[in-house]
Amino acid sequence: MTGMHDAHTAMAALSAVIAGETFSQFVDGAEFRSGMRGIAAPVALATTRGPDGPAGLTVSSFCSLSVDPPRILVCINRDSSAYPVIAGRRVLALNVLAAHHETLAMRFASGDACRGEARFAAGRWAPLRTGAPVLEDALVGFDCRIVRVHEEGSHGIIVGDVVATTGSGATSPLLYRDGHFVTSTAPARQGH
Ligand SMILES: Cc1cc2nc3c(=O)[nH]c(=O)nc-3n(C[C@H](O)[C@H](O)[C@H](O)COP(=O)(O)O)c2cc1C
Repeated sequence: MTGMHDAHTAMAALSAVIAGETFSQFVDGAEFRSGMRGIAAPVALATTRGPDGPAGLTVSSFCSLSVDPPRILVCINRDSSAYPVIAGRRVLALNVLAAHHETLAMRFASGDACRGEARFAAGRWAPLRTGAPVLEDALVGFDCRIVRVHEEGSHGIIVGDVVATTGSGATSPLLYRDGHFVTSTAPARQGH
């Protein structure tokens, strides 16, 4: 009986899709945020160098987009101070953080308390290929040439081709879950 009922429900849902139902009622922000907060996400500093110096912010919304070409994406709030510099300069480094980088992650997410070049007073930074500042002891650093910027509501989806990397991913990553920084209990990586 339950099987028949499930099949009927699935058929009804499929008919709705075929009929072009728009699903205009979406969940509220709190429900969405609660779902997202359950996910442990890696943390990186997205950095660039503009005409007035380096700029950057803490991000967790990044992932691999393709291997061929080697391409990443990251979603950045268009109101953040570094966004116009990143979108304008067309170069970006994604400095993926290790477990010991929690203070640095907070520094690059501190709003007016510490902005622009001042954020780079902590950590050791050096350019790799594009000129964007790369954190010397990043878990992994991806130096990218930006190939596309899609503006999507409050955020820009920045798509970058990786032109150089640094770091081996050998230490534990810094993760963010449920509003807190956490570290992985997985054993350290042996090689790649
Ligand atoms: C763990 C963590 C992850 C974050 N991820 C993102 C992100 O993916 N995209 C984004 O636009 N802001 C993200 N933020 C928020 C920005 O880092 C923060 O708002 C920053 O202060 C914005 O830069 P601004 O102060 O220069 O405007 C994150 C913050 C934290 C602490």
